[in-house]
Amino acid sequence: MSSSRVCLIGYLAMIGLLHNSLLYSVTADVDLLYNGFQHAPDLILNGSASILRGGALQLTNDSNNLMGHAFFNSPVQAVSDNAVVSFSTAFVFDIVTVGQGGGHGLAFVVAASKVLPGATAEQYLGLLGKNNQGNSSNHVFAVEFDTVQANGLLNETNGNHVGVDLNSLVSNVSEPAGFFTDDGKNISVTLESAQRIQAWVDYDGSTKVLNVTIAPVSVASRPHRPLISRVIDLLPIFKQDMYIGFSAATGKLASSHYILAWSFRTGGAAAQAIDLSRLPKVPKPPAPPPSMSTVIRIVAVSSVVTLTTILLAIAFTLWLRRRAVLAEKLEEWELDHPHRLPYKELYKATKGFKNSGLLGAGGFGQVYKGVLRRSGDVVAIKRISSNGTQGMREFVAEVASLGRMRHRNLVDLRGWCKRGQDLLLVYEFMPNGSLDTHLFGDRAGTGAGKHRGSSPAAALLTWEQRAMILRGVASGLVYLHEEWEQVVVHRDVKASNVLLGADMAPRLGDFGLARLYEHGAAPATTRVVGTLGYMAPELTVTARATKETDVFAFGALLLEVACGRRPIDPVTGVNLPRWVRDHGARGNLVRAVDERLDGRYDEEEARLVLWLGLMCSQSRPEARPSMRQVCQYLDGEAEMQEEAVVVFSDAGSFDFASLPTLTWSSCNTMSVGSLLGGR
Ligand SMILES: *[C@@H]1O[C@H](CO)[C@@H](O)[C@H](O)[C@H]1NC(C)=O
Ligand SMILES: *[C@@H]1O[C@H](CO)[C@@H](O)[C@H](O)[C@H]1NC(C)=O
Ligand SMILES: *[C@@H]1O[C@H](CO)[C@@H](O)[C@H](O)[C@H]1NC(C)=O
Ligand SMILES: *[C@@H]1O[C@H](CO)[C@@H](O)[C@H](O)[C@H]1NC(C)=O
Ligand SMILES: *[C@@H]1O[C@H](CO)[C@@H](O)[C@H](O)[C@H]1NC(C)=O
Ligand SMILES: *[C@@H]1O[C@H](CO)[C@@H](O)[C@H](O)[C@H]1NC(C)=O
Ligand SMILES: *[C@@H]1O[C@H](CO)[C@@H](O)[C@H](O)[C@H]1NC(C)=O
Repeated sequence: MSSSRVCLIGYLAMIGLLHNSLLYSVTADVDLLYNGFQHAPDLILNGSASILRGGALQLTNDSNNLMGHAFFNSPVQAVSDNAVVSFSTAFVFDIVTVGQGGGHGLAFVVAASKVLPGATAEQYLGLLGKNNQGNSSNHVFAVEFDTVQANGLLNETNGNHVGVDLNSLVSNVSEPAGFFTDDGKNISVTLESAQRIQAWVDYDGSTKVLNVTIAPVSVASRPHRPLISRVIDLLPIFKQDMYIGFSAATGKLASSHYILAWSFRTGGAAAQAIDLSRLPKVPKPPAPPPSMSTVIRIVAVSSVVTLTTILLAIAFTLWLRRRAVLAEKLEEWELDHPHRLPYKELYKATKGFKNSGLLGAGGFGQVYKGVLRRSGDVVAIKRISSNGTQGMREFVAEVASLGRMRHRNLVDLRGWCKRGQDLLLVYEFMPNGSLDTHLFGDRAGTGAGKHRGSSPAAALLTWEQRAMILRGVASGLVYLHEEWEQVVVHRDVKASNVLLGADMAPRLGDFGLARLYEHGAAPATTRVVGTLGYMAPELTVTARATKETDVFAFGALLLEVACGRRPIDPVTGVNLPRWVRDHGARGNLVRAVDERLDGRYDEEEARLVLWLGLMCSQSRPEARPSMRQVCQYLDGEAEMQEEAVVVFSDAGSFDFASLPTLTWSSCNTMSVGSLLGGR
């Protein structure tokens, strides 16, 4: 009797359990995916958050003291049977800072309410406030992506970290932002570098393991090893129903914080993959001052470059004529121009321009490594000797062009300063130095003095790295030629002007020779400048720097990187395009690939790069592909055309002395099919 009663109770309990779990599995599991937020009626925005027309979720713009929230409207069941429900989320964010030192960061949030308790801007990221830090009735869990080191208050290790916050902005776990490659390398990632970064947060309710992983969209697929992997009990934090979303805040330091895509799932399965090819675009940092009316603003945008040029030209003339009144006259435009940094700050950053911080020196001046006090950012500071008009002209060219551009493959000009004879340009520090040193080592350092890192013994670049670098530089050039508001001809594309970040991602630098002109306008003639071996033959005839002359220089770079040889060998004088072509003519084009790679390269890709290098090195400018076509070839969106004809000038394309005899009829014609041989 008694045993059958136990049985019955057991049976009822089992039905209850079954019933419960059935109920839960019907109602509890959530699975969302936003590839952009154009259609997101379920997203509730508050504060400075808004959805831009292109579909990006902007949590804050770069105004001061903002706070933006975006929450999924319905609560998610976070606790079931007294255990936290497993969840998995993936999202792509982008933090864009104008000038140097933005703030303060963004966070993925799981909270008991869509209105966060005591939410405060600045270092509190819109999550909590000074008075309720650490209070267990907050019920706030967050993974923060923090770009400012709060002074002392929050125990933060640096101004670029990922942290796990439990009811408190003093992170329970925190790591400098970065990811691990499969071979165990620790690669740091700058959160506010205007690059799209994907983050994954996974929690296993049964083992209580929380994993956080990040990786730039451009350089890596999901790393296998998480940045943070910890046992954390979320049960005290979570209530039965929790809201999921994002928060970001600015303070005196400000950045625009964007979420581009978001996927979230509970119940144990991994969040759905985000379609990275469909990410919404993020607006370029605005140029005009905010007080103008819209009409004036439109006029201003179109004429801002002309105006700046005129202003700078006037300032330049005045500077030349009357050094005594120079400081006062320049003050106005200096104030008008963004990113001006106080001399004192740069002086302190480099500890008084001490020689120990010298990264390089050359005819133009010196480059120092420094740390900006305010933001803790490591920067490279170029100090130009202004005792020549050339120095001043290049300085103005860089501030006027690079200062207003932003692209992940262009060096980031953080600011500038002019004080008497000292002209200073402040760039993001590129820890891996120049491509040149990686290809040829320091001993060959003809790029001496360019801004570069104090790279230790540079390891041989793998083929994959080389291909990634070439793609990056190509994409930077497409931006300069076609995507920016004006056409920018760089005029000095070469290996020593390609700088490598911590993850070896390339940025094209040194805009001292750059020329700007309107789309569709004919470039003016200029003094012929550039570097031997990278200069298109027609330059000596027309003296016009064009997009095609940049393409020629990029062709030389393609061959140089693939072959590990200089465009013109400094010792033997061998001309690289001709040398590669000769290999092609002998039917073994890929033999031209850098022998130090010892055969470790993708033969198909190597053939493509060499072929492209030859296409770009043709002496007839109209026969070269555009940078956009180059990108399409490199991305495999266009096919090599073997029947195309490569035309070289055999009359010493790079030899100034041969100018009078350089005629198109002296060109040597070959079919590419015969060059590619053995396909
Ligand atoms: C927006 O935030 C304010 C202040 O934090 C709060 O009072 C309000 O209820 C929020 N509105 C929504 C729709 O969440
Ligand atoms: C930035 O956002 C704030 C709050 O939404 C808004 O008031 C301000 O006008 C915005 N500023 C710019 C420059 O768009
Ligand atoms: C925690 O917050 C609750 C609700 O806001 C408040 O009543 C309580 O006093 C706070 N506790 C502490 C220690 O501040
Ligand atoms: C900050 O960190 C130190 C050492 O890790 C620790 O002793 C201290 O309690 C922490 N402070 C706060 C507010 O968590
Ligand atoms: C992290 O949280 C756990 C409780 O989940 C606590 O025991 C531990 O002290 C916390 N560590 C830090 C550094 O705050
Ligand atoms: C990764 O590198 C950073 C410095 O770049 C260092 O602070 C951090 O501790 C490293 N992380 C691990 C797990 O080694
Ligand atoms: C967390 O990462 C570890 C190590 O990669 C892995 O074994 C574990 O399955 C991960 N857990 C979750 C919940 O993703």
